Amino acid sequence: MCGIIGYFGNRNAAPIILEGLRRLEYRGYDSAGMAIITNNGVKIKKDVGKVDEIHARLNFLEHEGNIAIGHTRWATHGGVTRENAHPHISNNGKIVIVHNGIIENFQEQRKFLTSQGFKFYSQTDTETIPNTIEYHMRRGYDFFEAVKRSLRHLDGQYAIVLIHEDEKKLVAVRKEAPLVIGVGEGEYFVASDIPAFLEHTKNVIFLEEKDMVMIDKDGLKIFNLIKDSFVERPIVSIDWNAEQAKKGEFDHFFMKEIVEQTEVISRIAKLEDGLIKDIADEIRKAKGTYIVACGTAAHASMHGVYLFSRIAKKHINFCIASEFPHFKHFLTPESLVIAVSQSGETADTLAAIRAAKSAGAKVISITNVMGSTLMRESDKSILQRAGPEICVVSTKAYTSQLAILYLLACELAGKLDEGKEKIRELGRYIYYLTSINMRKYLKQLAEKLRYTEHLYLIGRGLQYPTALEAALKIKEVSYIHAEAYAGGELKHGTIALIEHGTPCIVFTSEENEKEIISNAMELKARGAYIIGVGPRNNDVFDFFIKVREAGELNSICQIIPMQILAYQLAILRGCDPDKPRNLAKAVVVK
Ligand code: G6P
Repeated sequence: MCGIIGYFGNRNAAPIILEGLRRLEYRGYDSAGMAIITNNGVKIKKDVGKVDEIHARLNFLEHEGNIAIGHTRWATHGGVTRENAHPHISNNGKIVIVHNGIIENFQEQRKFLTSQGFKFYSQTDTETIPNTIEYHMRRGYDFFEAVKRSLRHLDGQYAIVLIHEDEKKLVAVRKEAPLVIGVGEGEYFVASDIPAFLEHTKNVIFLEEKDMVMIDKDGLKIFNLIKDSFVERPIVSIDWNAEQAKKGEFDHFFMKEIVEQTEVISRIAKLEDGLIKDIADEIRKAKGTYIVACGTAAHASMHGVYLFSRIAKKHINFCIASEFPHFKHFLTPESLVIAVSQSGETADTLAAIRAAKSAGAKVISITNVMGSTLMRESDKSILQRAGPEICVVSTKAYTSQLAILYLLACELAGKLDEGKEKIRELGRYIYYLTSINMRKYLKQLAEKLRYTEHLYLIGRGLQYPTALEAALKIKEVSYIHAEAYAGGELKHGTIALIEHGTPCIVFTSEENEKEIISNAMELKARGAYIIGVGPRNNDVFDFFIKVREAGELNSICQIIPMQILAYQLAILRGCDPDKPRNLAKAVVVK
């Protein structure tokens, strides 16, 4: 969704906000903007386009000041126009806001404010917020009090940061949308996520629901709007480092994060036994376990179902998070729901766990972001330890989810040590899979596929979710229509679309080689161009990607060349692999 950032301190805020916008751009990149309080009042610059394009046109660094806010947008209410870009300002030109989320009753509020003489200059829901605050300030309330009163009238979900031209104050509030505080030496950062300010501080305050942060020259205070009182929140030091949030020698985060998988998988092999055992015990005790997630995390979760069945002889139910509330009827206090989410902020996943909790079920999460809403609302969590994933398209977070689910299944089968050893070994092999030679080899394939319009992928067993995830990677970054099927299913209809030269990617393994090769033959007989991915070459393949047999860990190995292929296709087709059109890293609206 959108990315928001604020700064309050002694330094010139403009370069800090500009850098923060670049780091937050993966959350939305329709438009961007900045507001800064200068000696001559508040100055706003905003426009449609990517941060650096706008900076080249408008120069975000023109004005100096110590208090500023910024925003990168992923449009929900109102088209992608300059008027709809944030920051938005109140009618008196004093209260400025950046907002992530949705104000659900904005139409009623807009009507009310219009009746009070307010004018609106955008189609956004956001513009109602600063004007509601101005309305309360006109009635004599101070800035903080006016914000509090305004929020009572505004429904929905939001993370907002506000500044007031005359007040030298910054206010930030979160309700069902991410917002973290960075605490530096005499300075504060407020942002949608940690990488936005990681260069400046590792000391973080994770906010609770409806916390309202008030920062002025005397420091920071937090008022909780539910408790209606001031609260203390601990400062936590996080173990991410600023380098992890930078591209370094790579042209794109996508490739950097693909390569990082060696390290990430090795880190998973070091997860504390106690944590894995504790979560596995919850699965043992539960009467019915459900695993829920969206997008890439959903593919990892589907894998989990196969892994639990094969390794632990345990049936786990999988459901796409947005559909899960429709199955809440059979949840009981003895049910267990495992939610998998890189960001821990996906609205559909949060709605699923809230449905589970309302039935009294226990919730366990697997998430990459410490302090995320999902983590805070779960009874227990496993942190993925993948480091910040900046590219919109998920890679290392996915394989770390697979590895964690694998270890849980191993522990349920009493084979945790064996499982960890296999993961450790795999780390070394992944290094080879992401090597320059492999990248060059896959570039040759990308050159063959670059003009293709449709592509099909098939796999059986564990290779079925792999095919789904590979198709998603290709679609997300190259915009080629890619569809995945279970090996046995394609012939029940979709085979009608296979023509001479249609590329089909076939995932094989020692276990299901015979059957999947038969499926590949069926496709070849209709003229398909067959790309094999697996341990052994076959005459049916026109192109072969050798990936060694790794049994239950085949999925981790086989997805890596597919991530690289998707990357190469994006580059050859002139697409930006880090910022695919229409996507957002964390979708915090339903
Ligand atoms: C968005 C992203 C996907 C991601 C999905 C779930 O749609 O574009 O890449 O897989 O959300 O995200 P989560 O943070 O819950 O894993």
